[in-house]
Amino acid sequence: DPQHAIDLVLFGALGDLALRKLFVALYHLDREGLMPEQTRILGLARQEHDTEGFRRLVGAALEKRLKPDEQDAICQERFLNRLEYLKLDFKSLDGYAGIKQWREGAKRPMVVYLSVAARIYGDICHHLGESGSLDDDSRVVVEKPIGYDLESSQAINDAIGAVFPEERVYRIDHYLGKETVQNLIALRFANPLFGTQWNQNHISHVEITVAEKVGIEGRWGYFDDAGQLRDMVQNHLLQLLCLIAMDPPSNLDADAIRDEKVKVLKALKPFTGEALGRDVVRGQYIAGTSDGQAVPGYLEEEDANTESRTETFVAMKTEVANWRWAGVPFYLRTGKRMPEKLSQIVIHFRQQPHYIFDPDQRDIASNKLIIRLQPEEGIALQVLTKDSGLDKGMRLRPGPLHLDFNSAFPKSRIPDAYERLLLEVMKGQQYLFVRRDEVEFAWRWCDQLIEGWKTRETPPRRYPAGSWGPVASIAMITQDGRSWYEDY
Ligand code: BG6
Repeated sequence: DPQHAIDLVLFGALGDLALRKLFVALYHLDREGLMPEQTRILGLARQEHDTEGFRRLVGAALEKRLKPDEQDAICQERFLNRLEYLKLDFKSLDGYAGIKQWREGAKRPMVVYLSVAARIYGDICHHLGESGSLDDDSRVVVEKPIGYDLESSQAINDAIGAVFPEERVYRIDHYLGKETVQNLIALRFANPLFGTQWNQNHISHVEITVAEKVGIEGRWGYFDDAGQLRDMVQNHLLQLLCLIAMDPPSNLDADAIRDEKVKVLKALKPFTGEALGRDVVRGQYIAGTSDGQAVPGYLEEEDANTESRTETFVAMKTEVANWRWAGVPFYLRTGKRMPEKLSQIVIHFRQQPHYIFDPDQRDIASNKLIIRLQPEEGIALQVLTKDSGLDKGMRLRPGPLHLDFNSAFPKSRIPDAYERLLLEVMKGQQYLFVRRDEVEFAWRWCDQLIEGWKTRETPPRRYPAGSWGPVASIAMITQDGRSWYEDY
């Protein structure tokens, strides 16, 4: 739709995220006919290049990332022709006039994308305002992490808010752009079957696992300051939790959805005293194996400070203290250097009030809804049927009712999260982006946990690379008579 044409001004245009994800996503949008002809992209970075050189670099990045059947010389050329380059020192006001000049006479709204460290968001926003580069309809897109704790996130949000009103701020949590995550909304609110069952009367517990196979990938400095709680739980896992736990919004408007998510964040039980030792497990990986190859421990990675107590794994049992969820544990875990890349949510339904089958099979007699984000996206409902065969009597057999997206929609390519998110920014729709109060309530909850860790001063537990985390994280759930669901 031509009315969605924009001028995209990309700060950090030669950075890792831009070259690895953003240009590829933008190219796909162009190729799918979703990028209006008038849309232009201005790349900004410190390096000395001209537009031609910049196009060559982006072209090479595309060649490297696109699968053979995604390559298309005509589209690639058309896409590269949209790009222009401006060398800019982000911290000094001088060069910003160049942005204004580039925009001269343009009627399209400007979208500023900050693909840079959050500590310079403030400077950039200030200079954009000061240089008169912005219009009344300019939007800004920012990446996580927004700060390091509540206080620093407030300072960053204030600096952004001094120039961009909240309805034009798009805070990315790329998990919200994943197809299955949006499917959670469809699944929960379009299916009466789940609508009536989605509460503590019918659900016994919920598991959220985001396991990564990779280690630190050369990002030791950044990661060691953050740790897995700040890097993954504060944003991705809490967003997933919110979408599972929130009450139905009255419509699909951005604020209707975000109001409900904020209520969940406010209702999260804080960890105090004993619960901190009992319901939270921090871990750090030691040397082990990944895909059969020996890999170093966290403290032996390049640039490592060998004294570090930063966690690379965290598991916890929490609760949403409200009418819908009281008494239902939410078990969360996420870690680096796990055996598989596996992200999934498992909703465990309660058992029947009265059981009439083989007493040995009692434990398996319940339903599970498995929502898988990675490695392949899909949803399965585990149900019980009679095992077939004359000799089986009334033996029960658990099996999945599958909705595997690759086979259900064989012709469609599952778009990357960034494609969906960039498209929504172009359309000016905010429902997949995180509002300021969400970020801040999530920090509030994480901060009390981090404070608690500091006062207890317990070092993280060790787990070998290539394992599912410290044994204590398994004990945490087995002592409740349950286990992590790892059947992928
Ligand atoms: C990022 C984290 O937000 O998410 C990384 O900073 C992590 O540490 C990544 O590896 C995981 O994203 P995905 O989409 O690969 O699960």
